[in-house]
Amino acid sequence: MIRLENVTKRFSEKTAVDGLTLEVPEGEVCVLIGPSGCGKTTTLRMVNRLIEPTSGRILVNGRDVMSMRPEELRRGLGYVIQSIGLFPHLTVAENIGVVPRLLGWEKPRIADRARELLSLVGLEPDSYLRAYPRQLSGGEAQRVGVARALAADPPVLLMDEPFGAVDPLNRERLQAEFGRIQRELHKTVVFVTHDIDEAIRLADRVAIMRDGRLQQYDTPENVLNRPANKFVHDFVGADRALKRLVRIKVTEVMRPAPQAAIDDAPEAMRERAGAGRFVYLTDDEGRLAGWLDTDDIRDDAVADAITTVDRLQATVARDASLRDALSRMLGLGFRSIAVTDDEGRIMGEVTFAAIEAVMSEAEEHRGPTADGEGA
Ligand SMILES: Nc1ncnc2c1ncn2[C@@H]1O[C@H](COP(=O)(O)OP(=O)(O)OP(=O)(O)O)[C@@H](O)[C@H]1O
Ligand SMILES: [Mg+2]
Repeated sequence: MIRLENVTKRFSEKTAVDGLTLEVPEGEVCVLIGPSGCGKTTTLRMVNRLIEPTSGRILVNGRDVMSMRPEELRRGLGYVIQSIGLFPHLTVAENIGVVPRLLGWEKPRIADRARELLSLVGLEPDSYLRAYPRQLSGGEAQRVGVARALAADPPVLLMDEPFGAVDPLNRERLQAEFGRIQRELHKTVVFVTHDIDEAIRLADRVAIMRDGRLQQYDTPENVLNRPANKFVHDFVGADRALKRLVRIKVTEVMRPAPQAAIDDAPEAMRERAGAGRFVYLTDDEGRLAGWLDTDDIRDDAVADAITTVDRLQATVARDASLRDALSRMLGLGFRSIAVTDDEGRIMGEVTFAAIEAVMSEAEEHRGPTADGEGA
């Protein structure tokens, strides 16, 4: 657990952090977000004592950080710094092994750990272990930075824009991976970002800062539905209803979908459709092969009414968000999309109408503050 009590940091004239009170419960992800210069990095660096507060108190697991030796404190805190900060004269493996070495781990254990972590962040160990930082792209170096922070399995992670230098595709992959790691390891995390979508996707709670002051500290849902003031409202953006979809899994609004085997008899297929228009057609492993549009059946010939598809393109996985489903549907021009389990079998479908219903619900929940002060 991390607790900041009325923490202020002044650099001569400049107040970088101003009376910040914030508690991050154990095992939760707090995302700090706000415009450049609002005090995010300063806040993180006070938690591991790279900067000392001018006033106020910071507790990590109940202990005042000012009462701990900095080295001892920092070994319990994995830190990913904004400018990556790999040691240039050490290989990737040696960079990842810095803290384990300090902790006196045996060499083979450190080597195994480096391999394991590189795979985890999506870098092929054999290609990267012996590389030097100057041989890495910005995004690769950043991922090594994340691996290094995780190396000694610290209970607390401080991450300063850890995916800032990664391209959008890899960034999404890393965010998904981070989500998975977090569901498994339950670290207490303070995560800094500029990217509101990243914040909404990853946070248990979002802390929105402006000029060193906390504007709102709340769940992503509440930040979107009930912005505390005009600044938060504007910061979150006009597409709040759309952003909310990131927080909802397709399985939450999925409904059963009629299915038939693609080699079934035409009568059987039609029967499966019931009163509906479409039937999903599956291969012999229960995976999507295409669909039948009963409106297109002429003279009992189903062949013309069957569309075959690439199942990876035309389905979303069970852990996809409604936002993922919506953008896939818009891209393909579909009114619904099949949801698949880990084996690729159809579990059900999400319809455009169901997503629309969720979005209008979000609009109804708009708080009086936002309505009163909104643009
Ligand atoms: N060592 C320092 N001396 C003087 N001023 C500083 C120092 N470090 C930070 N500041 C100032 O404190 C404010 C907050 O800086 P900080 O680095 O915490 O911002 P940030 O929110 O992390 O911004 P960014 O999103 O650009 O990384 C800024 O106005 C910055 O100029
Ligand atoms: Mg910063």
